Amino acid sequence: MRVEVDRSQCQGHNRCYVLAREVFDVDDEGYAFVRPGCNLDDSNVQELVRNAARNCPERAIVVDDE
Ligand code: F3S
Repeated sequence: MRVEVDRSQCQGHNRCYVLAREVFDVDDEGYAFVRPGCNLDDSNVQELVRNAARNCPERAIVVDDE
């Protein structure tokens, strides 16, 4: 799995951070980014990522499930 935050879409709702803080963090301005080195091979983490993506109101979380 690969995941990224489309910074042009993120509006700082921070649901991703609340739902999957293992993967997402927010910068000083409140916009999300993917934590470097997070374990995206873990199936539990992958489910957190999918849930966060579903819950982002801006659809800013881009998941590549290859
Ligand atoms: Fe941004 Fe969506 Fe998270 S708007 S802060 S990626 S919930």
